[in-house]
Amino acid sequence: MAVIKKFRIKSFKNINSIIEFENVSLAYGNRLILDNISFKINEGVSFGMLGPNGVGKSTIFNLITGLITPSNGKIKISGEDVTHFPVYLRTKKFKTSFCPQYGGFFNDLTLHDNLKAISEIVIENKKLRNDKVNYLISRFELDNLKDIKAKFLSGGQKRKLVIALALLSEPRVLLLDEPFAALDVLTIKMLQQIIVNLQQETKISICLTDHQASSLLACVDSAMILSEGKIVAQGTPSNLVKDTNAKNAYFGDSFKFN
Ligand SMILES: Nc1ncnc2c1ncn2[C@@H]1O[C@H](COP(=O)(O)OP(=O)(O)OP(=O)(O)O)[C@@H](O)[C@H]1O
Ligand SMILES: [Mg+2]
Repeated sequence: MAVIKKFRIKSFKNINSIIEFENVSLAYGNRLILDNISFKINEGVSFGMLGPNGVGKSTIFNLITGLITPSNGKIKISGEDVTHFPVYLRTKKFKTSFCPQYGGFFNDLTLHDNLKAISEIVIENKKLRNDKVNYLISRFELDNLKDIKAKFLSGGQKRKLVIALALLSEPRVLLLDEPFAALDVLTIKMLQQIIVNLQQETKISICLTDHQASSLLACVDSAMILSEGKIVAQGTPSNLVKDTNAKNAYFGDSFKFN
């Protein structure tokens, strides 16, 4: 089993950006949510977004996936301007997978049938499809739950299902909106391991957000702090927790990373 990063930052040999925001603003009516933000996520890196409720983290995922378009600015995936690309093209061409903050599965299908339904869309060959579904069920230790309707799974089991669904298509970019929400300590550890292992084994790029700041910082290479529509700090976890702007806007003085 891989060890949780705990500030063991790997070397960033690959400096191609996979996701890039260039001067992006987004307003709902006259409420400016994102104010001219620019950032890059490099290929093969796991990147965290932190910030208070309502700051615009899910909005950033919606902008990356194409569910909404910015009021101003450019969004690039793999260097290509995708600002006006539809959702399906971003998913297909750049192999992006999104685990939303809520839902993301069929309530009335069993866990197995959820995976089967999505696999039928994304994997053509029947044998490969079945193999992949079975692999993910065992990888996520969901074997004894596979015949349970998704709506009856616990919060943590649902999160695992949604991540397994996202991995069916072997994404190059995995977007996780609050994967640790409402999970117990051991399940968070398991998900952190999954995230770290995925990145190390398959070299995918991962972008995640969560209010469990310690849990997030333990499994990312770098992160940014959002506050009042702006990025107020960016860097490696070890540098971020020492950053004065990050402390003032988000961590406070008593935050301890362990
Ligand atoms: N469709 C919409 N119409 C109007 N306002 C919206 C819409 N979607 C989001 N917002 C507003 O945009 C802001 C950012 O919302 P967002 O969901 O991105 O926050 P968040 O950082 O993900 O918060 P949380 O940590 O609570 O999940 C909020 O003030 C929200 O009310
Ligand atoms: Mg959100």
